[in-house]
Amino acid sequence: MSDNQTNSGAVTAEFKRAMRRLASTVTIISTADVNGNRYGMTATAVSSVSMDPPSLLICVNQNASIHAPLLERGAFCINVLTTEHEELVNAFSGRLTGSERFTVGEWRDDASGIPYLDGAQCNLVCDIDTVMPFGTHSIIIGLVTGVRVAEGITPLIYADGKLAASQSLTTGHVRIAANLSSISEFLPQDLKSFRAKNPLIRIHLEEKVSTAVVSAVAENAADVGLITEGPKTGELKVFPYRRDRLVLVVPSAHPLAARDIVSFTETLAFDYVGLHTGSQINLQVQKVASELDQPFKCRMQVTSYDALCFMIEAGLGIGMVPEKIAQTYAKALDVRVVKLDEDWVERTLAIVVRSYEALPVAAKRLVDHLRRLSA
Ligand SMILES: Cc1cc2nc3c(=O)[nH]c(=O)nc-3n(C[C@H](O)[C@H](O)[C@H](O)COP(=O)(O)O)c2cc1C
Repeated sequence: MSDNQTNSGAVTAEFKRAMRRLASTVTIISTADVNGNRYGMTATAVSSVSMDPPSLLICVNQNASIHAPLLERGAFCINVLTTEHEELVNAFSGRLTGSERFTVGEWRDDASGIPYLDGAQCNLVCDIDTVMPFGTHSIIIGLVTGVRVAEGITPLIYADGKLAASQSLTTGHVRIAANLSSISEFLPQDLKSFRAKNPLIRIHLEEKVSTAVVSAVAENAADVGLITEGPKTGELKVFPYRRDRLVLVVPSAHPLAARDIVSFTETLAFDYVGLHTGSQINLQVQKVASELDQPFKCRMQVTSYDALCFMIEAGLGIGMVPEKIAQTYAKALDVRVVKLDEDWVERTLAIVVRSYEALPVAAKRLVDHLRRLSA
């Protein structure tokens, strides 16, 4: 090997090392051929060229599957990714092929049929002006013909051969009102993952019964509400959040403790420990008991699931609790969990807002996060 070759080999290796230190925002280049077949590729070699005319350049490997259709179509879109789009990076750089890539993310077509990513930091639609082959790549200059820009600043950064800071730079304050079931079953983990991605967004959370959550949102005392479906929500926008199921918790020495499943009617022979008046569980149980024309003997009312389960363990009654919570207490206390043979024990927890479009950016990010987890 000649000195020159050795040198160029060393330079290439060092060049690669050097480029790993150049942090870039990840984008997806997208286009479609005249038959509507979509093509897309993860790219960081994207740069603005001039403001007059508004133009940018991309560098595309001539062997990439998008290369030929891109030049043939003469138009493309640069979709700048957010921290919510990590999954797209691998999908569009080899994990998936062809139009299957577009099953990841919310893709739509613009008026000219070019696919764009809804929810991207921004979408820049371009007509190809100049193509310069260079080495393994084509340098393509595009004239920007259309721009959509999102409010938040949450770039997905690639450095050192991997995704780097995947934290959002969006700041703000979100006021949440949530019922006990959402707080006990799902919110701790969901807010933990939200905080990890959005460390600059402050959260204020207040527990209320679902009807009071609906009022708080309607009166603008809270930006986002989490409820168990049941209360009238009027003009509010409602998104499904999670599903849960009520089960019966009984002391381990109780006559129903050995049963796997019971009907609600059978349980009405026994004293209950209930949650406070106005909680959805209480309202639901009272409603069904009155439909059956049987008394619901609720001897004690408490405001938390731990108090409820302690009362049950002490033999003061039986109670109804979401299954996830019941299973946790069954490990720690001398109580048993019995399934209820009723359709109404399956419940939907929901997100309520006044208007999704009118939410502040920080609250919108939280709603997007919760909806993504609910999918
Ligand atoms: C973070 C990242 C950035 C990339 N940037 C570019 C780029 O700017 N230009 C390019 O041609 N390939 C780039 N690639 C590689 C292509 O996305 C990848 O080779 C793609 O799979 C090639 O397309 P194909 O599989 O459709 O043939 C990048 C890959 C990653 C993971």
